[in-house]
Amino acid sequence: MSQTALAPAAIGADPRTTTLADHAPLSERSQHLSPVLARYFQRTWVRGEGHRLWDEAGREYLDFACGLAVTVLGHAHPAVSAAIHAQTDQLLHMCNGLGYLPPVTELADALVATLPAPLDSVLFANSGAEAIEGAVKLARRSTGRSAIIGFSGGFHGRTYAAMSLTTSNINYRTGHGPLVPDVHISRFPSVYRGYGGDEGAAVDGALESLRRLLAEAVPPSQVAAFLIEPVTGEGGYEPAPDAFLQELRAIADQHGILLIADEVQSGIARTGRMWGFEHAGIVPDVVVVAKGIANGLPLSAIVAGTARMQAWGRGAHGSTFGGNPVSCAAGVAVLRTIREERLVENAAARGEQLMAGLRAIAAEDPRIGDVRGRGLMIGVEFVTDRDTRAPDGAIGDALIDRCADLGLLLLTCGPAHNVVRWIAPLDVTADEIDEGLAIFRSALAG
Ligand SMILES: Cc1ncc(COP(=O)(O)O)c(C=O)c1O
Repeated sequence: MSQTALAPAAIGADPRTTTLADHAPLSERSQHLSPVLARYFQRTWVRGEGHRLWDEAGREYLDFACGLAVTVLGHAHPAVSAAIHAQTDQLLHMCNGLGYLPPVTELADALVATLPAPLDSVLFANSGAEAIEGAVKLARRSTGRSAIIGFSGGFHGRTYAAMSLTTSNINYRTGHGPLVPDVHISRFPSVYRGYGGDEGAAVDGALESLRRLLAEAVPPSQVAAFLIEPVTGEGGYEPAPDAFLQELRAIADQHGILLIADEVQSGIARTGRMWGFEHAGIVPDVVVVAKGIANGLPLSAIVAGTARMQAWGRGAHGSTFGGNPVSCAAGVAVLRTIREERLVENAAARGEQLMAGLRAIAAEDPRIGDVRGRGLMIGVEFVTDRDTRAPDGAIGDALIDRCADLGLLLLTCGPAHNVVRWIAPLDVTADEIDEGLAIFRSALAG
């Protein structure tokens, strides 16, 4: 092992007491980390507490990125940490395939309690992409059909079925083919980008695209599932209009097609409701959950009705690590905290405050073409010209870097990285929202 990889002061050192003088910045000696991973920041993160993060130089940041929509209760949340410590001492791992585990059963109950009937059967996995793979397998085998239809701009993960359904950025697919067969992409009702802000036209256009696909390319009788994010994540934080999701549900019912909601980013109270699909008043057949469910430990879930899971077939799917008891214990603490502290309501209220603040900023800044989203899932889209709505691919990454320099962590999304996304923790305070808005204003001015 090279000396740089094992700089003595950095190994086993308490990051709270080590200083820059102790070792070269980690970001400058990362030569053994694969460059395939695109990193938003060239910063090294050493500590998190509440809604604050610290880098190795001791700089403090207000964290409105939440480890990419994961740390919904912030860092080192006492209830989550206590649950993790207790379960770690009790039982760290036992494969779910070997029997039952109290925190796994408890989390399944708690998750089902947040969902409408008939969504009452949970299979745990480790990551969002893995759960999407499972949901696609569930749809195919339980319907006896093979076609899966996704929507343009969607992001579902990096594994093969998930990637084949992902069109948020061509780089994710390029050179990785052949992709999974019988996967089709229909048009997403992109209100701002596709239809000049006309929601009705966006819904009609996307439905027309779907009807043509079903009439000309894929017979509905061969379609196992529609897969959609109620609010797109990586694609640009665009909510699917309620009318579109309602019609999608109706078309699915008409043809015996399953509707899978990818709630990996929009779920767990992020949109000011527990689940993104609730805004449209629909009930999907399958819900995919990940990211925030365990506040930072790897965990995901596929939820469907028991009859649907039975139709998948015993032994048809499984995982060594899926449903790790420590992750599930954390998940139980997360759902309990959301319920007891009324964080769905907080996400809705703070989301309104943030939306109002960002719209006020946008009113004075012609570089901002659109501010949109739901609850605490808000995107600010930058354009070179408000009339043409041409995306400004130059500003996003530079702007979030400037925000970081000023102590606020935000991320970008969208194919041109021209949408700045705000993913504040669910228990964010009004003062913190004001603080974030003030820093954003300064970054825009700078
Ligand atoms: C909507 C959505 N689905 C699926 C995924 C994939 O999740 P993971 O990165 O845990 O595999 C993501 C990740 O960003 C996501 O945003």
